[in-house]
Amino acid sequence: MLQSMTHVLHRILGRKLPAAVSGSGVTLRDADGKTYIDASGGAAVSCLGHGHPDVIAAMHAQIDRLAYAHTSFFTTEVAEALADTLAADAPEGIDHVYFVSGGSEAIEAALKMARQYFVEIGQPQRRHFIARRQSYHGNTLGALAVGGNAWRRAQFAPLLIDVAHVSPCYEYRDRAADETPEAYGCRLVAELAGEIERLGPQNVIAFVAETVGGATSGALTPVPGYFRGVRELCDRHGVLLILDEVMCGMGRTGTLHACEQEGIAPDLMTIAKGLGGGYQPIGAVLVQRRVVDAFSRGSGFFQHGHTYLGHPVACAAALSVQRVIRRDRLLEACRRRGDDLRAGLDRRFGSHPHVGDIRGRGLFVAIELVTDRATRTPFDPAHKLHARIKQEAMARGLMTYPMGGTIDGRLGDHVLLAPPFIVTPQEIDQIVERLGEAVDASIASVGAGAQGATPIASAATR
Ligand SMILES: Cc1ncc(COP(=O)(O)O)c(C=O)c1O
Repeated sequence: MLQSMTHVLHRILGRKLPAAVSGSGVTLRDADGKTYIDASGGAAVSCLGHGHPDVIAAMHAQIDRLAYAHTSFFTTEVAEALADTLAADAPEGIDHVYFVSGGSEAIEAALKMARQYFVEIGQPQRRHFIARRQSYHGNTLGALAVGGNAWRRAQFAPLLIDVAHVSPCYEYRDRAADETPEAYGCRLVAELAGEIERLGPQNVIAFVAETVGGATSGALTPVPGYFRGVRELCDRHGVLLILDEVMCGMGRTGTLHACEQEGIAPDLMTIAKGLGGGYQPIGAVLVQRRVVDAFSRGSGFFQHGHTYLGHPVACAAALSVQRVIRRDRLLEACRRRGDDLRAGLDRRFGSHPHVGDIRGRGLFVAIELVTDRATRTPFDPAHKLHARIKQEAMARGLMTYPMGGTIDGRLGDHVLLAPPFIVTPQEIDQIVERLGEAVDASIASVGAGAQGATPIASAATR
């Protein structure tokens, strides 16, 4: 454990954290010698696990050659090679990459790029973004403004740009009993169409959405046809589609990009976590050719920039991560282990009285906790069930990524799992077993869930 005195301003003040000292494969070790299975890849970051020899060697080699060169003076071989790799496997029409240092920076860049695109093509009146409730796009001010998590936004609201929010695609809570998934998707697209009309289609810059919802919603998968409907709607009004795949992208759902499974390509796409697998801080915006063309024909530059854009060591780490994923067929592994994980969770929680939903894709899955499966009543948020589960899991040597406020920023608890793609079936069994114990112990500690929160109205009426 850390000594009581710390000069680090930690996320939660006054809480004692174990000190991580080493990592290997899916396991992290703390200073007391205790080991933890990293079943969440931190926050869906560590796609190759820890201490991967190829990535570490690539970083060493890059540092020995060149550790840093500012991008207003130079490009580097390694940034060019990484961009070539990403462009080669990008969704239809995407052929340029803008490198940044993380997910929030990627979103900020995408928002500004979208706005500048319309200035370049002579539509400077476009000024509105539309995003979704319950989404998470990062913690910087622009990212927080498009984000839809009420609790995270609340105290910073006076500082945030005005963004319109529509319903998330949240089938478990919001699809009516007599509605097909497709009809539900159409209803959501119609809601977005209404919002575009309200703002004036000629005034809207972009719709921003996580392809599969992550941190604040818990692996929310889109219903069939939803994103195709969104794409058509955006095209009809000349509105850009920005997909945020910072968490769900780069293989996490079993395909390199989550949008491949939706059969659409965005105009701008943000990626980060799995891009560098945690070995270095790196994110990127993948950009459609026509956006780049508009910049080329117009001002000739993107009015943005940070000191560490395209950092050579970060690019070297990411290039190595992406090469290992291809060489070792880890997308296939992700799909297969994803099936194993899902089967394990179904066995352990499929008829658990307090698990209302098991959802996700590939190695990006979540369970949502309820006091009662029939009424889908969430736990009283005062219990902080999600925090208890995280603590009980850590006590059992298991890292998970639970969050509260799943439903509306206040109510609801889920646990997100996103293990490295190299996880073995045996490790998956251990993950499921330890998670089961942690969930049961946490629920027992709040008194078997008798104290549910008041059932909530559907998102459509909130
Ligand atoms: C979908 C999504 N977008 C953006 C971000 C912000 O990324 P970062 O924490 O690297 O700034 C996150 C982080 O969890 C995310 O999940």
